[in-house]
Amino acid sequence: MFYNFLLLVILISNGIDGYRKRDSDDELYEIRIFENAPSGTKATPNEAFDRALRERKTCFAQMDSDVEWIEFDPGLSMFITTQDVPATARSMQHASLHLMCASNQMRSINFAIHVTRRNRHPPKFSQESYHFYVPVSLQPGSEVGRVHVIDHDPIIYNSQVRLNIVEKETYWSADTKNGSILVRSPMTTLELFKPYNVQLVAIDFGSPQLFSLVNVTIVPVSITRPFNVRVNVANTGYQIFEWDSPEYGIADKFRLTIQRNRVVVHTQEVDGQDNMAMTKQNFHPGTDYSIVVTAIDIEGETPSEPHKFSVIGTNFECEGQCSEGGVPMCFYGKFHKIEQFRDKTGLHCLCYDGFSSPQCDTLEACPRERVFENFGVLDWPETSVNKSIALPCPYNFDGRHLARKCLWDSENEFARWENVSHSDVCRKQSTVLVHLGMLANFVEREAQRVSGFSAAQQFLDNLLVVPAFSPNVSTSHFDAKIAEHTAQLLDTLFSRNMSEISGNTTMVKQQLVDYVHRFSQRLPVPYTLESPKGGLQIKTFQWELQAENFPMVVGRRCYLHLPKNTYDTDNVRVICIKNTTVFPVLNGMNPVMSVEMDLKARIPPGGKVLIAIRPFNHTINHTCAFYDSKGIY
Ligand SMILES: *[C@@H]1O[C@H](CO)[C@@H](O)[C@H](O)[C@H]1NC(C)=O
Ligand SMILES: *[C@@H]1O[C@H](CO)[C@@H](O)[C@H](O)[C@H]1NC(C)=O
Ligand SMILES: *[C@@H]1O[C@H](CO)[C@@H](O)[C@H](O)[C@H]1NC(C)=O
Ligand SMILES: *[C@@H]1O[C@H](CO)[C@@H](O)[C@H](O)[C@H]1NC(C)=O
Ligand SMILES: *[C@@H]1O[C@H](CO)[C@@H](O)[C@H](O)[C@H]1NC(C)=O
Ligand SMILES: *[C@@H]1O[C@H](CO)[C@@H](O)[C@H](O)[C@H]1NC(C)=O
Ligand SMILES: *[C@@H]1O[C@H](CO)[C@@H](O)[C@H](O)[C@H]1NC(C)=O
Ligand SMILES: *[C@@H]1O[C@H](CO)[C@@H](O)[C@H](O)[C@H]1NC(C)=O
Ligand SMILES: *[C@@H]1O[C@H](CO)[C@@H](O)[C@H](O)[C@H]1NC(C)=O
Ligand SMILES: *[C@@H]1O[C@H](CO)[C@@H](O)[C@H](O)[C@H]1NC(C)=O
Repeated sequence: MFYNFLLLVILISNGIDGYRKRDSDDELYEIRIFENAPSGTKATPNEAFDRALRERKTCFAQMDSDVEWIEFDPGLSMFITTQDVPATARSMQHASLHLMCASNQMRSINFAIHVTRRNRHPPKFSQESYHFYVPVSLQPGSEVGRVHVIDHDPIIYNSQVRLNIVEKETYWSADTKNGSILVRSPMTTLELFKPYNVQLVAIDFGSPQLFSLVNVTIVPVSITRPFNVRVNVANTGYQIFEWDSPEYGIADKFRLTIQRNRVVVHTQEVDGQDNMAMTKQNFHPGTDYSIVVTAIDIEGETPSEPHKFSVIGTNFECEGQCSEGGVPMCFYGKFHKIEQFRDKTGLHCLCYDGFSSPQCDTLEACPRERVFENFGVLDWPETSVNKSIALPCPYNFDGRHLARKCLWDSENEFARWENVSHSDVCRKQSTVLVHLGMLANFVEREAQRVSGFSAAQQFLDNLLVVPAFSPNVSTSHFDAKIAEHTAQLLDTLFSRNMSEISGNTTMVKQQLVDYVHRFSQRLPVPYTLESPKGGLQIKTFQWELQAENFPMVVGRRCYLHLPKNTYDTDNVRVICIKNTTVFPVLNGMNPVMSVEMDLKARIPPGGKVLIAIRPFNHTINHTCAFYDSKGIY
């Protein structure tokens, strides 16, 4: 009863004003429902009505209207269709909402029910997400950043938008209209350089009501982004970038990160005071490059927006100062004038291949290099770019040389040796080893002739000519593996019973003895060489002036103890052969030891040499020895 009475009063007080009249607070109220909306569709109040409804959420409300297909749900505080909106519904009809609030306050809101075109487009944020780097000291009320929202609906209220932060947020707020995100309370308690995420919603006022969400990342920083990153020059030889320093904070340094197709192709750091940097990259022409300049201070780092750029193939010319090794590097200087690039280190030039330094006056060279190849160890000397050098092949006796060029790697700007690993100019170590092995098998054969010995001898003679065994060739190195295989062949030759070799063996015996001496002279000092079969040992050592000498055991059968050297330091070469028939006075049962000095140092007067040789027949422990002081057998 009471309720009815009140209603009447309100009707009287407002009724005369007619419908769709301005409310006392000068606002226009309206709800929108799209054509043919099905039953149960929520109508969209305009902003003013929406605000009014939210302010009076606790009030009791009732709708008064001729329109039968919509009603107000006081629980949800919204207008909902109770049946399908009839196709014949007029586009604009009027109604009132009577509100009865606490303390008997009453109010009636006259509003229009607007049957509209369907809202098709939700509001759209200009970016998929937003990232703001904010000075941590920013005061409440200051702007953190802005978002932009567009709505593509042609009807104005379908494209009116309101912005809100989705969840309750302590530090930031969003202006509902203009897209500004503002500081709400001081950020000083927040962690520096930590990303904080906030979700924004943009909602329009069409029917049905549509919205979009966007993620906004806010990073409190001690240094803001470098900005206005720009490209002065970007060609295939060099690039010059410029930027403006962060507005807040002081950079210790900047890092340039250049990407192509999202792959980092170059990074470079420059001083925090610089606003320009040059990179000397050999980029390919193209449009898909981008650069980010990151400002770095002690607390962290803040990247600029990526700046896209193109690399062009053509270079341009300008006047300038360079040595003969290059031409001026040009850029757009003051007033956009093309001039020679100058930074705090001075003027810059673009060097020809093989030259370096800002003025291109340094001729680059490949460094000296020792390489271990399958054709031996080679010492390549320092060599200028574009020059070739030829070294004798370590295992060739035919005097062949291998040439190698110092190349210029223009991609990475450095001098690089040509790769000769797979060259087949030189004889390989394995070839020599195989040959030595084959000869050893051959001379071991039962029925052997002098000619077989001569063939082996021929090969051994050649071996002394190869650079690896020539002490005067400094670029090659002694080869222990080949020396060991040679000793094995010599062992095999020495241990043959010469009486069983058909033919006149006088020559081959002499050659063999001669050879083992010459061979021992090619060994480094000190050195110990033993044939795998154990029949031949060669030992070299230094006989030092005035030094105490220790007994020297050479293999299992020879022993030598020299007295103190009082003349001059000398190299001693000792050869120990287990048993051989190449010496006429020996019957093949005895060891033979040879001692030789390179400089023919003599035994000092009164000095004593202790020599011992052990026969290989265990049943006897003494034997006669033959001493040949002149080395003649
Ligand atoms: C948006 O409004 C706020 C006040 O709410 C103001 O501080 C800010 O400067 C405005 N932004 C723009 C882009 O007008
Ligand atoms: C926003 O971020 C959340 C996770 O934080 C993610 O699940 C969601 O997909 C993001 N939304 C957009 C629009 O990128
Ligand atoms: C090396 O040769 C290249 C190609 O012939 C040439 O462009 C360059 O100037 C030469 N560099 C030097 C240091 O001779
Ligand atoms: C050069 O030789 C080395 C082996 O010594 C090999 O690994 C490398 O791939 C070669 N480089 C070229 C470019 O042939
Ligand atoms: C090394 O010395 C030998 C003789 O001992 C000589 O035949 C050869 O030509 C010399 N080689 C070089 C590169 O000097
Ligand atoms: C074997 O050859 C040497 C010289 O090569 C010669 O002096 C000697 O007489 C020859 N001996 C025989 C038995 O023919
Ligand atoms: C040397 O001794 C070995 C046994 O250790 C024997 O097989 C070989 O025939 C001997 N050589 C000579 C030349 O007597
Ligand atoms: C070497 O061969 C000869 C003839 O066959 C033989 O008389 C002699 O004993 C052999 N010497 C050794 C050390 O085997
Ligand atoms: C060792 O010498 C003795 C005595 O001269 C002799 O009988 C024996 O055959 C020799 N042994 C060998 C392996 O030559
Ligand atoms: C070696 O010689 C010593 C003395 O000269 C003798 O006593 C010993 O029995 C000999 N040993 C052998 C194995 O002949």
